[in-house]
Amino acid sequence: MSQHTQASLMGKRILLGISGGIAAYKSAHLARLLKKAGAEVRVVMTEGAQAFIAPLTLQALTGEPVRTSLLDPEAEAGMGHIELARWAELILIAPATADLMARLAQGQADDLLTTLCLANDAQWFMAPAMNQAMWRHPATLENARRLQGYGWHLLGPDAGDQACGDVGPGRMLEPEAIVNELLDRLTDTASKPSGSAQQATDAAELTITITAGPTREPLDPVRYLSNHSSGKMGFALAQAAAERGARVRLISGPVALETPPGVERVDVESAQEMLAAAQKAAVDSDIFIGCAAVADYRAEQVAEHKIKKSSDEDALTLRLIKNPDIIARIAENAVNSRPFVVGFAAETRDLERYALDKLTRKQLDMIVANDVSQPGLGFGADKNAALLLWHGSEAAPGRLELSPQPKTILAARIIDTAIKRLSATDEHPSCTSSQVTR
Ligand code: PMT
Repeated sequence: MSQHTQASLMGKRILLGISGGIAAYKSAHLARLLKKAGAEVRVVMTEGAQAFIAPLTLQALTGEPVRTSLLDPEAEAGMGHIELARWAELILIAPATADLMARLAQGQADDLLTTLCLANDAQWFMAPAMNQAMWRHPATLENARRLQGYGWHLLGPDAGDQACGDVGPGRMLEPEAIVNELLDRLTDTASKPSGSAQQATDAAELTITITAGPTREPLDPVRYLSNHSSGKMGFALAQAAAERGARVRLISGPVALETPPGVERVDVESAQEMLAAAQKAAVDSDIFIGCAAVADYRAEQVAEHKIKKSSDEDALTLRLIKNPDIIARIAENAVNSRPFVVGFAAETRDLERYALDKLTRKQLDMIVANDVSQPGLGFGADKNAALLLWHGSEAAPGRLELSPQPKTILAARIIDTAIKRLSATDEHPSCTSSQVTR
């Protein structure tokens, strides 16, 4: 296992860029949190940002003058903009509007913030915030991809209710979540050995296949067996993987969700259809994630015509037969010829014990255990909590506990962990699931 160095913001010189969106009011709290974490914070605001929050507020919170203009002789006399760009060890833009993302993706330097970004070569993070339709627009998604290619780390966006009344992806992450994500990403950077840029952790080189939603097992032409999976968790995983630049295939049961931008979607109904699509996609996938709630059983006989209610019988007996175990079928192939396989375990008790059993029995590389008895989490909910388990040392499995949080954010942590585990397996190919002693 790689050494995991905990990152800190103590003494870190952070340039906080604020652009003009309603989420700008949250940037005051973000500045406070960064200061509280020990960072030196200087704020640069675009013209639009000043329509939402006064520079004076940020000045009072950071104890530093706030910069707003590129051509300000007085400010330039203090610390010139190139000097300011050199000063910053890390640039964090929150909120990053669609317009700002477009300008940065174009390499424009038409105001102070974009100029500083061009002139700085440290670490770059942004928390996008915009209306859901703007975020979903192909132009914005293309800009997001391009920015990631330039080295920007995108934090979020989150999904949910928006200030404009819409519901969907595009909300800025809450300030606490931004700081946590920042620390996580910095930890990842710190723990990556130098010269390792070519490792499989480069998500842009990966193909990731994800199953999502429920399956429907027909009983007759109008009835079926299914479950309450909404597809939200699987779709959030697909979105997070696509945001990291991976090629993403999403095999989805029947759900009422839009395809995340840039994701290739295959719609299926039954477990058998899902198995066929999964086997086809797994052939050239690097990671396979089984998030779908696959029906364990299907009707032995599917009636050709609608089953009629009998006036004589009070009960109807259905004979069910086992469905194929999709993820086990993917994982049973030779380790060096199959993807890194991540399963989910939906449990209502003894979470860790049952999840470890599935990890071993299904020959998975990692499992995401979620307690689906918790109100407001799991099936159909916007939030989830998870315990990630993988094959660690003989003495103990690797584990990462993730507290209740929006599925969009949780998904990012799951994808990042899977990519990290894949890299670790690539580095130590002899440590495969077939050799687990548990
Ligand atoms: O879709 P949402 O409303 O957002 O809810 C998310 C979720 C609760 C469905 C999700 O987080 C989750 O837990 N998915 C897995 C549900 C499940 O079927 O768990 P399981 O413990 O029964 O299955 C274990 C693993 O085997 C899973 O990876 C499952 O995809 C896979 N499986 C199960 C049966 C089967 N026949 N084939 C499979 O591949």
